[in-house]
Amino acid sequence: MSVLLDVKNLTTQFNTEAGIVKAVNDVSFQLNEQEIIGLVGESGCGKSVSQLSVMQLISAPGKITNGEVNFEGRNLLDYESNSDEMRAIRGGKIAMIFQEPMTSLNPTLTIGRQLTEMLELHLNMTKEAARERAVELLKQVGISGAESRLDDYPHNFSGGMRQRVMIAIGLSCNPRILIADEPTTALDVTTQAQLLELMKDMVSKYNASLVIVTHNLGVVARYAHRIYIMYAGNIVESGTTEEIFANPQHPYTKGLLKCIPRLDEEKGRKLVPIEGLPPNLINMKSSCAFAPRCSERLERCLTEAAPPLRDIGNGHYVGCFEK
Ligand SMILES: Nc1ncnc2c1ncn2[C@@H]1O[C@H](COP(=O)(O)OP(=O)(O)OP(=O)(O)O)[C@@H](O)[C@H]1O
Ligand SMILES: [Mg+2]
Repeated sequence: MSVLLDVKNLTTQFNTEAGIVKAVNDVSFQLNEQEIIGLVGESGCGKSVSQLSVMQLISAPGKITNGEVNFEGRNLLDYESNSDEMRAIRGGKIAMIFQEPMTSLNPTLTIGRQLTEMLELHLNMTKEAARERAVELLKQVGISGAESRLDDYPHNFSGGMRQRVMIAIGLSCNPRILIADEPTTALDVTTQAQLLELMKDMVSKYNASLVIVTHNLGVVARYAHRIYIMYAGNIVESGTTEEIFANPQHPYTKGLLKCIPRLDEEKGRKLVPIEGLPPNLINMKSSCAFAPRCSERLERCLTEAAPPLRDIGNGHYVGCFEK
């Protein structure tokens, strides 16, 4: 299995009037060829900012202050955000499907135009060829009457259908990587499952890799090969999906597991939310960010920084003191 994307020590901060928001703190993760990974954590823990940093879509007052984003033999952070190289990467080699499709699809352009624009720009297709390919893509993502729907606007589609259009646009230029940022939260569970299934099939068809960004561990359980758990700007645990579910080590991961329904367990198990809220990421203390909510907290957790990720075997890493 070879590494496709190798992110090292990525650090992204927002310099606000209230102080420095440490949104992404020394985050490292890898994505292999044809692999699906899940990036999981509660709201505000830095999931989106980390992925936007990979794409260099961070704007002021945000700044990537450290790290490497290694992709196809280059560190993407060596390029300016608006450089030709980054423009070619974005959409062409690495595509991102955003949290809210209504804000990332242009409401004033037809779906067909938005699809053909990508194909003409990145793949130098003629208008006719692009239109033909656009129809094919819409068919592949399960939009019926694809030909006539090309002339519809985003608001003519339901939420689930808009997500399908986003998947078609995302995959239109045969990217190596698709990043799907919580594509499903506003949708019902059946639609959610269908979209994840579709993304899985599509990336497999295109030999691409997929990053699923979500706050729900249950969502990634069926699809991800490996999982990264993120809390307060840090990766706190990572491992294969089997390891994370069978042998969770970090108290935060254990907490996340307790609040998802499991199909493979006896009915009637209580779902227990993690008490408290994630910390404000402004002017963070250097002690473990999860300590105030942690049921396994030691004295030192409140005074010392959390330890770096420790290799516990089987490709499993955890950033918590050995107990
Ligand atoms: N433009 C900005 N200015 C200041 N702070 C920001 C900005 N964008 C993000 N942040 C902060 O960065 C942190 C991480 O945000 P991020 O959007 O990555 O969270 P997330 O894990 O994607 O959450 P969600 O699950 O709600 O999407 C948050 O504390 C957020 O308030
Ligand atoms: Mg987000």
